[in-house]
Amino acid sequence: MRLKITGGRLLDLTDGSLAPADVLIHQTEGTILAIGRELPEADATVELSGEVLLPGFIDMHVHLREPGFEDKETIATGAKAAAAGGFTQIACMPNTNPPLHTPELVRYVRRQAMAAGAAQVLPIACITEGQSGERLTDFAGLKEAGAVALSDDGKGVQHGGLMRQAMIEAAAVGLPLCIHAEDETIAGRGVLHKGAARRLSLPDIPGEAESAMIARDILLAEQTGAHLHVCHVSVESAVALIRWAKSRGIHVTAEVTPHHLLLTEDVITSDDAVYKVNPPLRSERDRLACLEGFLDGTLDMVATDHAPHTVQEKQRSILESPFGMVGIETVFPLLYTYLVMPGKLSLVDLVKRMSTIPAHKFGLPGGVIRVGGKADVVAVDLDNERVISPDTFLSKGRNTPFAGWRAVGFPTLTVCGGKIVYNKQEASQYGTI
Ligand code: DOR
Ligand code: ZN
Repeated sequence: MRLKITGGRLLDLTDGSLAPADVLIHQTEGTILAIGRELPEADATVELSGEVLLPGFIDMHVHLREPGFEDKETIATGAKAAAAGGFTQIACMPNTNPPLHTPELVRYVRRQAMAAGAAQVLPIACITEGQSGERLTDFAGLKEAGAVALSDDGKGVQHGGLMRQAMIEAAAVGLPLCIHAEDETIAGRGVLHKGAARRLSLPDIPGEAESAMIARDILLAEQTGAHLHVCHVSVESAVALIRWAKSRGIHVTAEVTPHHLLLTEDVITSDDAVYKVNPPLRSERDRLACLEGFLDGTLDMVATDHAPHTVQEKQRSILESPFGMVGIETVFPLLYTYLVMPGKLSLVDLVKRMSTIPAHKFGLPGGVIRVGGKADVVAVDLDNERVISPDTFLSKGRNTPFAGWRAVGFPTLTVCGGKIVYNKQEASQYGTI
C-alpha cells in the first residue's frame, strides 16, 4: 500500500525555506519512498491545503497513567492525544501503579501501545524498585524488554551512593538516566515557588531543591560516563550548571517544558490547582534563564511533562491536589505562536528541538523527512488560529493552564510509521473534535 500526501509545503531544515512538495509513503514498510512534485499515483491520497510538513514530533516526557490510574489517562487515550498534537513518538514515565519496574510491565505497555495504533510509545522504566529509592531495578532486563531510558520521575533519587551505582550500571547497559531533580530535604512539603507561595501563604519549593541535585548528578555523570538527561529544568541555577557541564564535555542533555518557557508564578493569583506543577512555575528571571538556555542549546529539547489528572482532583485546593499539567495537544501551536511568531525562535529551531534533536540524543529513528527514512510526518496549519479549549482534547486530562489562549499551528494530519494516526478532517467529521 502506498500513501501520497499532496498539497503540503515542506520545510527545509537547512535553510528554513518552504516549498510545495508531495510525499509518497510505503505504508507496510513505514518508510518514505519519494519527495517532490509529480510523483506516481498511490493507493490512497491525502490532500492538504498548504499545511507545512514537518518530521513527527518526539516527546521524551509523558505520563500515560496505565496501569493503575486509567481514570486520568490510558495508554490509548494518551497515544491518541499525542498523535493529535503531532507526535509520532512519546516516551512514557514509569510512575504508574504498579510502577514500570519489571520487564513484564515494560512489555505490557508496548503491547497496549501497539493496540492503540496511534503515536509510538517508548517506555521509560524505573531506576529503583517501586520508585522507593532503595534498590536498583534490573537495567539489562528492562532494556531487553524495550525500555529506552530509566527514571524515577515524580521523585528524585535521594541517596547519592545509590544514584552513583545506577549511573555505573546504566552506562554499562547503555541506557540514559532521566532525572527528576528534587532534593526532598530542601523541597520539604512545598507546592509553589516562593513569590506565589508567600502570596497564598503556602509552603514553597526552593529552586535549590532542583539545582543541588543536578549538581550532584552532573558530577556523578562525569565520573561514571553515564548519559544524564535532566527533566523539566525550571530554575536559573540549573541552567547555569548544565551549561557548565556541557562545557566540560560531560554527557548531559536537558529538556524544558512549554509551561516553564511561557508562564511564571505571577499567573497564580488564587488557590487554583491548574497551576500546580512540579517543578513549580518560577520567577520571570528563571523563565528568562530557561528561555536563554533553550535558545543557546543548553536545554536541548522541549518535553511536555504531559501529566493528566481528573477534573475532581484538580478542583481541590493547591495544597491537596496533585502536581501536573497536560500539554501534548497544545505544545507546538503554543511555542509556534508565542516564540516563533514574535521572532524569538526560528521555525527550524523549534522543529529541531521537538523532533530532530530528541531523535539524535536518544538514538531514535525519525526526526527528519528524507527518502528511505521512517515515515513519521506531521502537517501543521500555520494559517488559522484556534482558541485552546480543553473540551476538544483527546486526552482524558483537562488540566491545562492555557485554556482560552489563542494559537496558530495546530496539526491537521499525523502519519506514524506510514499509518495515518490523526486526521483532523476525519476527526471533525465524526464529531470528536
Ligand atoms: O507536575 C508533575 N506531575 N511533576 C512530576 O514530576 C510528576 C507529574 C505527575 O506524575 O503527575
Ligand atoms: Zn513528569
